[in-house]
Amino acid sequence: MKLSRCFTTEDFRKLARRKLPDPMYHYMQGGADDEWSKTNNETAFAKYELLPQTLTGVENIDMTTELLGAKLSMPVYLAPTGMSRLFHHDHELGVAAAAQKFETMYGVSTVATASIEDIAKACPGPKLFQVYALKDRGLTRELVARCKAAGYTALCLTVDTPVAGNRERDLVSGMTLPPKFTPASLLSFALSPEWVYRAITGGGFEMVNISHWVKGDQKGGVAAYINEQFDRSLTWKDAEWLANEWGGAFAIKGVMTPHDAIKARDHGASAVMISNHGGRQLDCVPAPIDMVAPIRDAVGDSLELIVEGGVRRGTDALKALALGANACSFGRPYLYGLAAGGQAGVERVLGLLQAELERDMALLGCKNITDISKRHIQKSR
Ligand code: LAC
Repeated sequence: MKLSRCFTTEDFRKLARRKLPDPMYHYMQGGADDEWSKTNNETAFAKYELLPQTLTGVENIDMTTELLGAKLSMPVYLAPTGMSRLFHHDHELGVAAAAQKFETMYGVSTVATASIEDIAKACPGPKLFQVYALKDRGLTRELVARCKAAGYTALCLTVDTPVAGNRERDLVSGMTLPPKFTPASLLSFALSPEWVYRAITGGGFEMVNISHWVKGDQKGGVAAYINEQFDRSLTWKDAEWLANEWGGAFAIKGVMTPHDAIKARDHGASAVMISNHGGRQLDCVPAPIDMVAPIRDAVGDSLELIVEGGVRRGTDALKALALGANACSFGRPYLYGLAAGGQAGVERVLGLLQAELERDMALLGCKNITDISKRHIQKSR
């Protein structure tokens, strides 16, 4: 299959599967425990139906929106995901350039494989830096200062990862950091010659923004790294400290309840990502889409709400907005595009999504993002 024949998220996933050695593919694709939440994040969208309003005059569709103080061309942006170099040598810089081209926001992970500054050069437009609080507070201070200097739009603190989720696929596939040929994965590496060639000649798997502070033994893979380095003593006081240290648009990522959304607001956040980390942390939690309405009811207009998890189609984003979200983000879909075709793959994913959203807005009878409301949605009967 070629990139130009990919249309659905599933098409990109299949092509990514063919290009990646097992450990990389399963690290990207996997969820925690039985992957109930991971699957449910996507299927939960089917509980809702869209209610089109006809004859509204939809000759000009404006999908622009404001989020975290930035103007985006559409209400979907690229969620932070770790270590893009694992999936393609275009790594974060390719993703950043694609986000720039489509004028949407790029979420950059603490565990990125490109530097905060290089990403900022590739993406002068809106960008969000995602913070994992590691045990060394000095490192967090340094990251914040670098993001300020490089002109990042917003900061978010991920709060759903005090310890690593139980990702059994990584154990089976022999996922290590940096990637190593193991008896379990040797055959799959042999079947991905292009990936192996780039790995041998280019390398670049280091988490460059933190590797000068955190030299921990990474042989145990991602879970061992998280359990060793992440600060599990974090509380709301630390979130407030970070909000003040940053002083700009600030979000909490990994909020799943009205109670935590209110806490986030009261500790300095102007937005929350309703997220269960793509089903990679605690399993058996609700789908983000199912928590939008209760959280909106609890916080009124005092917080921006972002749905992160399971968004695959333009209609998914419209459902999220109709239920009360300000925007959505997705992770795996653009990583499939990255693995399938580098920057060009991410651009193709974004191009298809943008066209789909525009078409779906016209079909729903909405000219502007602010037109989308409760009137446009119902629970399936
Ligand atoms: C993960 C972390 C690194 O989900 O965000 O793998």
